[in-house]
Amino acid sequence: MARTKIYVPRETAAVSVGADEVALAIAQEAKKSGTDIELIRNGSWGASWLEPLVEVEVDGTRIAYGNVAAADVASMFAADFVGGGKHERRIGPIMEIPYLMDQDRWTFWRCGLVDPLSIEDFQAHSGFKALKQAFTDGPDAVIEAVADSGLRGRGGAGFPTGIKWRTVADTDGDQKYIACNADEGDSGTFSDRILMEGDPFGLIESMAIAGFAVGASVGYIYLRSEYPLAHSILARAIETARNSGWLGTNIDDSGFDFDIELHLGAGSYVCGEETAMLESLEGKKGIVRYKPPLPAHEGLFGKPTVINNVVTLASVPNIINLGGERYADMGVNRSKGSLAFQLAGNIKRGGLVEKSFGVTVRELIEDWGGGTASGRPVKAVQVGGPLGAYLTAEQLDTPLDYEAFIEIGAMIGHGGIVVFDDTVNMAQQARFAMEFCAIESCGKCTPCRIGSTRGVEVIDRMIAGEKREDNYDLLVELCDTMEDASLCAMGGMTPYPVRSVLKYFAEDFASSEDLE
Ligand SMILES: Cc1cc2nc3c(=O)[nH]c(=O)nc-3n(C[C@H](O)[C@H](O)[C@H](O)COP(=O)(O)O)c2cc1C
Ligand code: SF4
Repeated sequence: MARTKIYVPRETAAVSVGADEVALAIAQEAKKSGTDIELIRNGSWGASWLEPLVEVEVDGTRIAYGNVAAADVASMFAADFVGGGKHERRIGPIMEIPYLMDQDRWTFWRCGLVDPLSIEDFQAHSGFKALKQAFTDGPDAVIEAVADSGLRGRGGAGFPTGIKWRTVADTDGDQKYIACNADEGDSGTFSDRILMEGDPFGLIESMAIAGFAVGASVGYIYLRSEYPLAHSILARAIETARNSGWLGTNIDDSGFDFDIELHLGAGSYVCGEETAMLESLEGKKGIVRYKPPLPAHEGLFGKPTVINNVVTLASVPNIINLGGERYADMGVNRSKGSLAFQLAGNIKRGGLVEKSFGVTVRELIEDWGGGTASGRPVKAVQVGGPLGAYLTAEQLDTPLDYEAFIEIGAMIGHGGIVVFDDTVNMAQQARFAMEFCAIESCGKCTPCRIGSTRGVEVIDRMIAGEKREDNYDLLVELCDTMEDASLCAMGGMTPYPVRSVLKYFAEDFASSEDLE
């Protein structure tokens, strides 16, 4: 008789709420009851609110049990959990959970499904199929497919990936690099992590495809140090890929050489900015570089370099497998394909939702997120990380479309959605934006380095009720200067959240004074 497969995620969010203890309890209970099980530590499906989300495979169907605690395991076994039996933790077939069913999982489809560290499981789920296809089609066809797909960078700036790859391919260089940006510093974001922990071979394959397309033989993953689990999973996957001939020289007899080095950051937000990341990768202090030259021309160690976010890269294999046009058919206007939106903050059902562009923030928050965790009304939503504007409850019907967001003075960024209920004081949030910039500024340019510190002071005066109108004008002027004269988006976009507070939540300055 085949062993029963039981899945318990080894993913940071799941582990933080006891997944390791649950896995241990299941192994012990199975031993005690003489049940022959195969315990698989999968990645997360992204439904973080259900973690630890345990599954058992019964007659080919995976039955889910949510929010399982180690203390539940004995009673689950007594209730024939191994046969998919009834228990208060039982949800039903994983593929029938609406939170997952209603997504458009183009990039994250293997997350949760496979054993992240099994290269055999990866290959049984289309792994390396796109890379092989790329070897057959040739570099130009790969770049063309990426360009046709309309894929834009998922790290924040939304730059067309096909153009970036074409530029590097067309630039002469004895050595070229792929630099994968896995710094994931934005507040409320975790999609890079879920992908790296749940489908590390998918990222390895994606980077190899990028390398093949542009003529790069070395790739770097710049990973934030706050992700130790992702680090160990990636390190093991890279080693396995090397030992299996999917990294190294003459991959799959194609004549193409490619290897990956994993590099840990040191906890700086600005090191996610691409040129500061290059400095850091070179072993220097993470300070932003002037542009030009563009990294595509002179990037890492002065060589042509593709810099892409984890999710951007991981979207590529299915573009090769299923066709660029199919990707372009998803989404709206110039926002093609899907994005992994991340629901965080004061939200009932936090997690990752991969959905085609065009979905509204309200749909994500209400239909997937179930509203606020506190049950109170939504007051503000910050989309796009710490440099993103705060949306009002009325703006939540804006479709998630890069250009539609620009029109309302906001941005989508890396798809982080942080929800606040009506107890938040938005004047404090404006102060936080300036304070964050002051702490994280690389210090290279004055508007950001000095402006952010002055910004905190001006906001403090407004909160204290000191010459509020004069200080309001001063703050607007300061925002103009930071926006116009900063070298990078750190100082250039910090005014976004501040301005949105001034425009839509100005009354909170008065109520902060009342709180003093
Ligand atoms: C202050 C700052 C922080 C950034 N942090 C990240 C980050 O953590 N991850 C990321 O992929 N991009 C980040 N970016 C955007 C990168 O500079 C760059 O646009 C991106 O890595 C390019 O990849 P993409 O085209 O695939 O998005 C940041 C930008 C700025 C200005
Ligand atoms: S805007 Fe800020 S982070 Fe960017 S270069 Fe200037 S000082 Fe550095």
